[in-house]
Amino acid sequence: MNSRGYPSEWLYELKQKNDIVSVISRYIRLDKKGRKFWGCCPFHNEKTPSFSVSEEEGLFYCFGCKESGDVISFVQKIESCDFSDAIKILANLAHMEVPEFTGDKDVVEKKKAKDRMLKLLDATYKHYRDNLYTADAKPAQEYIKLRGFTRRELEDFQLGYSLNWTDIVDYLRKQGFTYKEMVDAGVCQSKNGRCFDAMAERLVFPIFNSFDECIGFSARVLGKTDFAKYKNTAETPVFQKGRVVFGINLLKRLKKQGGLNKIIIVEGQIDVIAMHRAGFKSTVACMGTALTKENAHELKKLSNNIILCFDGDEAGIKATVRSIDILKEEGFVTSIVRLPEKQDPDEVIKAKGKEFMQSLIDNALPVTDYLLEVTKEKYDLSKPDQKGAYIKEALSVLRKLDSLAEAEGYMAKLRDQTQVPIDVLRRDLGALYGSRVKEVKNAQSSQEKEGESVLTSRQNGNIRAVKYVLSSLIHQKAYVDKRIDYKKLLPSFSDIIEKAEEGLSVSSYFDAFDVENNQILKDCLVFDFSEFENFAKRYFEECVWLLADNILKDKQSRLNEEFKTCESLEKRREIINQLTEVSKQLREKSLEEFYGK
Ligand code: UTP
Ligand code: MN
Repeated sequence: MNSRGYPSEWLYELKQKNDIVSVISRYIRLDKKGRKFWGCCPFHNEKTPSFSVSEEEGLFYCFGCKESGDVISFVQKIESCDFSDAIKILANLAHMEVPEFTGDKDVVEKKKAKDRMLKLLDATYKHYRDNLYTADAKPAQEYIKLRGFTRRELEDFQLGYSLNWTDIVDYLRKQGFTYKEMVDAGVCQSKNGRCFDAMAERLVFPIFNSFDECIGFSARVLGKTDFAKYKNTAETPVFQKGRVVFGINLLKRLKKQGGLNKIIIVEGQIDVIAMHRAGFKSTVACMGTALTKENAHELKKLSNNIILCFDGDEAGIKATVRSIDILKEEGFVTSIVRLPEKQDPDEVIKAKGKEFMQSLIDNALPVTDYLLEVTKEKYDLSKPDQKGAYIKEALSVLRKLDSLAEAEGYMAKLRDQTQVPIDVLRRDLGALYGSRVKEVKNAQSSQEKEGESVLTSRQNGNIRAVKYVLSSLIHQKAYVDKRIDYKKLLPSFSDIIEKAEEGLSVSSYFDAFDVENNQILKDCLVFDFSEFENFAKRYFEECVWLLADNILKDKQSRLNEEFKTCESLEKRREIINQLTEVSKQLREKSLEEFYGK
């Protein structure tokens, strides 16, 4: 048998020889407490251990950041490498020979295509880089001097230069790449049947992922043109703008050296380089100003602390406010640097020096202070109506805080700014809090009224029901009703259900599936059953019924549609019979339809 491109027996042996506790102990300190080992999670910042390792199950799980997996995915995460590379590392430790990769045809093909694209990108950035040191690169060299980059930054960031519209095309041809491959990788564009460099005559900033692989480019014009100042690689299978963090590879290196504390986020590549030059080595940028959820996930692995340092203009403020919301949702501790008006970090450092930048960073504002400050600037507090509007908006900022006590800390400030007595402010805020509490309560009770349980709120309930049923199957719970054919209930998970029915052990799922890219399965493998302890069976039945109910209702509406358009009398009779049967099943909550043969 083959699992994810390697023989199952071989993977089994590999895991036997690399017991999870000793492998993880190579990276962090673990202590045995009860049946589990505990330590401080390497994937998020923490001071008290919430990272647990179960030797029996061969799994790790962090109660803080919810990272989880087996010994292979642990290595993948901590080394930031893919499955095959993690296998290589573990095989090395166990002195085992790695067999040849022979996955599904699809997987092998995909892996090949991706490797090929990365190879092309690798050749491309190195060629651009080498160009920079040739006599033909005068314009780029002068520009670099003008911007003040040193040798160190050129090397760290592997900056390069595109000589003209065709040089890279000729070069890649000679290396054996096809025109189609160049276009697919976003390096070239084709026009009127001819292939051109997409970054022609620009200073090129290669963009690396956290494995130090070049995945695309951003390139700046040198002279004055009507073209966009920066041009970025179009979306490709390896370059998705929303996921890119410029400088992530250097950030990871810094973390490995133990030098990473807070991550600083700026808007542009040039700013990243200027910040590094000034000694702020933990600076990165996202492509397209505001940060995305995906960016946040990636950064979370490296640090829980973020300093936003966007440009001091309106766009920068907007991007900051949007990013704050995302960071809050992802549980970061965020603070904000306010740059002098209309300046970016590069300009600030040039004009006032790195000490000034350091003082701005040292005095970065907590989120609430920042939000109040930018809110205040929108109003003229000497005008009564604007003052009222300011108070209203300021209170709505405070309302988002987790507790009234936290908000209370800002009341005196608000009073000093507005000369409105603190009691009045408190009353207004209390009213806002009251309405917030009411909103949450209402939402809950309307959910509860809708059906017998919270589960019945459709969208959400569905996912929860799917997870609970799948988890119960995977973890071989005794209450699982064996009469039911679960593949009929959850057709899109039939491959997982099949393994569950074969009695696959939990850690073997990591070999059989690409768990990292299957969030639902991942959640199921480490599912926490403790909150269902007292009603595990009843809840299971409820979930099963919810799924069945959905399928039956779909069937009902399909039959109804059919009935409307059906002309044959006989057929109509048959549909009526079927409809009667479905209504009966729904009424009686009958699951017979889903029993196995
Ligand atoms: P800025 O216009 O603020 O650039 O764009 P900058 O960092 O100050 O650059 P210099 O100092 O003029 O060289 C910030 C970021 O927005 C993206 C780029 O990623 C850039 O780094 N951008 C900007 C584009 O993608 N296209 C553009 O035309 C301009
Ligand atoms: Mn700039």
